[in-house]
Amino acid sequence: TKGAAMVTAVASRVQAQRKQIDKVLALFQLTREQLLGVRDKMRAELEYGLKKKTHSLATVKMLPTYVYGMPDGTEKGKFLALDLGGTNFRVLLVKIRRRSVRMYNKIFAIPLEIMQGTGEELFDHIVQCIADFLDYMGLKGAQLPLGFTFSFPCRQTCIDKGTLVGWTKGFKATDCEGEDVVDMLREAIKRRNEFDLDIVAIVNDTVGTMMTCGYEDPRCEIGLIAGTGSNVCYMEEMRNIELVDGDEGRMCVNTEWGGFGDNGCIDDIRTQYDKEVDEGSLNAGKQRYEKMTSGMYLGEIVRRILIDLTRQGLLFRGQISERLRTRGIFETKFLSQIESDRLALLQVRRILQQLGLDSTCEDSIVVKEVCGAVSRRAAQMCGAGMAAIVEKRREDQGLQHFKVTVGVDGTLYKLHPHFSRILQETVKELAPQCDVTFMLSEDGSGKGAALITAVAKRLQQPRKD
Ligand code: GLC
Repeated sequence: TKGAAMVTAVASRVQAQRKQIDKVLALFQLTREQLLGVRDKMRAELEYGLKKKTHSLATVKMLPTYVYGMPDGTEKGKFLALDLGGTNFRVLLVKIRRRSVRMYNKIFAIPLEIMQGTGEELFDHIVQCIADFLDYMGLKGAQLPLGFTFSFPCRQTCIDKGTLVGWTKGFKATDCEGEDVVDMLREAIKRRNEFDLDIVAIVNDTVGTMMTCGYEDPRCEIGLIAGTGSNVCYMEEMRNIELVDGDEGRMCVNTEWGGFGDNGCIDDIRTQYDKEVDEGSLNAGKQRYEKMTSGMYLGEIVRRILIDLTRQGLLFRGQISERLRTRGIFETKFLSQIESDRLALLQVRRILQQLGLDSTCEDSIVVKEVCGAVSRRAAQMCGAGMAAIVEKRREDQGLQHFKVTVGVDGTLYKLHPHFSRILQETVKELAPQCDVTFMLSEDGSGKGAALITAVAKRLQQPRKD
């Protein structure tokens, strides 16, 4: 009977532990009501951002892009494109001819000390990379039009001017906020005094993504990035954009929805772990929605949960290893691997081992559950935001049903085994009168920047004669 009592004791301890784990996981399970709340609050913020009176206080900035329409297929020529702000920095040569696009690109690393150094250093480095690329391609003397995909919030007054509102994600170079980044690039080119470039357009990555898909699908009027960061742009009626004169036609608006919640409006669903991630970030208090939905932060949320569970004695035999204390160990890549259905638990343990975490079989089950809860919430919240956008567009056009295509890019969307499915299911559930097709954009930032540059160049022509 002593043995039996021990068995019962162990069983009830296991049960109690399970309860504690479930309690933590439950914090990430949003009810339908909570998701509807996210959708409706996002909708309200979209409207605030568009209106003159409320714009300056809105957390969703709704920035005009001065992109008025889609490419029409007549674009042609050779263009340079820069892509800064995603996983990598790239320089591209894009050749467009009769609806076919050819691209050559080179990836460059941006060292941390440059990302977080001075603005001059950052732009000197960028120009150094352009020089390398031009050398490599044998294009040193060529004066090509350039489109700059710059994936940060910029206040624009025309297609080739953009004042940085504030850095997001991992960037923090000094003396850039409030400056025109196109000017900064031009100055850096001047400093080097080696070549000249014709900078025609500055473009957000969401806009490039929408353009690339719009080139093939005329129903595409929304661009989504679910990657390192999270953001959406869409075509809005000019009459609704109070910040820009004129009522005719439409203009693409960069929502910068990552800032949603910065006024505390979703604090009821933010967990202690979300708050820790925010406080430990480069931009505390900012981009709260982005910090719950994008690749740069999901792994960090997971790590904070694992630390807490370990502290409660529910994981890793209660031992918090040095590795688990290391910020940024869980990249999106690892989350995607751990959550892959084809993966046996033994393989999950192997991945954890690569991360320096020694796990038992039970540990690996819990880690996988934690990853699942965090990424599921991210996809659902992103879906709730998207539902707000498509519903707004449907209502604004007075439609009973609205069929639309969303161009998408980003590592989270592309690499994660469940994110895209859950995102789509959520949009369907929360915007039942909309029929939303998600279209993967192959290299939207580069190609899109070139397409926008081509259109801008064509529109510029008459002015020059
Ligand atoms: C961040 C940036 C935004 C960009 C997004 C995706 O949210 O502020 O401009 O589109 O990341 O890269």
